[in-house]
Order: sequence, then C-alpha cells, then structure tokens
Amino acid sequence: MRKPLVAGNWKMNLLVADAVKLANALKPLVQDVTGVEIVVCPTFAALHAVGKALEGSNIAMGAQNCYPKESGAFTGELSPQMLLDVGCSWTIIGHSERRQYFHESDAFLNEKLKFALASGLKVMFCIGETLEERKSGKMNDVLTRQVTDGLAGLSEEADFDRVAVAYEPVWAIGTGVTATPEQAEEAHRFVRGLLEDQFGGNVSEKVRIQYGGSVKPDNAAELMAKPNVDGSLVGGASLKADGFAGIVKASA
Ligand code: PGA
Repeated sequence: MRKPLVAGNWKMNLLVADAVKLANALKPLVQDVTGVEIVVCPTFAALHAVGKALEGSNIAMGAQNCYPKESGAFTGELSPQMLLDVGCSWTIIGHSERRQYFHESDAFLNEKLKFALASGLKVMFCIGETLEERKSGKMNDVLTRQVTDGLAGLSEEADFDRVAVAYEPVWAIGTGVTATPEQAEEAHRFVRGLLEDQFGGNVSEKVRIQYGGSVKPDNAAELMAKPNVDGSLVGGASLKADGFAGIVKASA
C-alpha cells in the first residue's frame, strides 16, 4: 500500500558537471520504473543544473538540508523557497551528519521540518541511534526522543502525505555494515508504533519509513522484503548510476 521511496543522498560529492552526468546516466536506467518514487539529493551547488537535467523524468530532486526562514540575514543558508525555485520538491532534514557535525538539536530540526512543510517541500526526516547508544540499550529511548520531539506539532493527517521518516542507524552509515533485515524491521516496527501512539493509526499506517545505512544493490531486495521497510536513503551507492538503479529496481 505504501509506495516505496528510494532517495540518493549525494552528500558533499560531485562537481556540477559530474552531478549532471550522473543524473543523465540514471534517467534511462529507471525510466520504466513505475512502482517506486525516486529522488536524488545533490549538493546545493548542483541543484539548479541537476534540476534542469531531470526535467520531464520520473526522478524528483531534493536538497540535503534547509534553513527555517524564507529570506534574510542568515549567511550561508538556503530557504525552502529557494530550493523550490531551483526545482526541489523534497529536502532531507536531520541527517545524522547534520546532528553530529553541526550540532542540530531535535528542537531545531522540528522547526526546520515544520517550516519546510509549510513552504511546500516534502521532507525525509532522519533518525537513528549510534553504536554506543545501541550497545548500552538506549536505542529505543533515542528513537523515541527523536520521533517525539522531531515530529512534534505535526497533527494534520495531511502533513504525513509529505513526510517520510528515514531510519538510519549511525553505525551503518558509510561503514559498509548494513543492519540486517531483521534489525531494520525491528526498528521500523518500533518507530511505526511510536507514530501510532503520537498520531494515531491512520498516520502510522501511511507514513513511509525508509532504511538508510550501507544500502547496496545486493542487499536492497532483502531489506525491502520486510513489511515495515518502505524504501531507502542511499549514500555511497547512489553515486553510481547502475548501482542506484539496481536499488530502485530491487525496491519495485
Ligand atoms: P551510506 O549513507 O549509504 O553511504 O551508508 C546513507 C546515508 O547517510 O543516508
């Protein structure tokens, strides 16, 4: 019932020409895929050019971050309005690298989420525990805090047509260590339960929960086979057109 959402997070990689090349290489490889919503998230610098390259294709574009103001004296930041202007329909918010390196708090991420939605963007909202948190038995507490505080104030059922939650265990990001399908399913089921407690069954049944962390063409199908895994957020493997296309097709 939930249409899989597969997004490539290109992170701080690819100069504009290479980003456009990757977008152009990806287009024919996935043009016949209908059952999957496909998104790529280039760097800010490449958004405009990649947006042009993707026009008329079945690949949507997202940003990797945004600032919760429309305009003004916020040096170095970009507003949702600017992202929409260059062709984004999505943005990632709350990636663990933002939380870790840029100290973005749950409250600030919640502000970004609400502002991005109100501005008309769709949001992939990232959560996930570190290895230390998992090992010390705090995983469920961390996920509970990230969901409760991060999604606070989203009451309208309609909001959740435009929000996906990406469960990305920090220990699996960029490490080559993927959560097993069972670990992913267990966490996704827990998160869906949190959504049910906070927002009710209609919302929890429709929200897509993506898995992220070392997703590759050869492990995507087994992850996707789990009932609560509704797509993926792919870093490293999204930088190769054939690899990302393989993940998209494995998710169909
Ligand atoms: P990875 O990154 O696929 O390279 O592990 C995932 C992510 O950070 O979204």
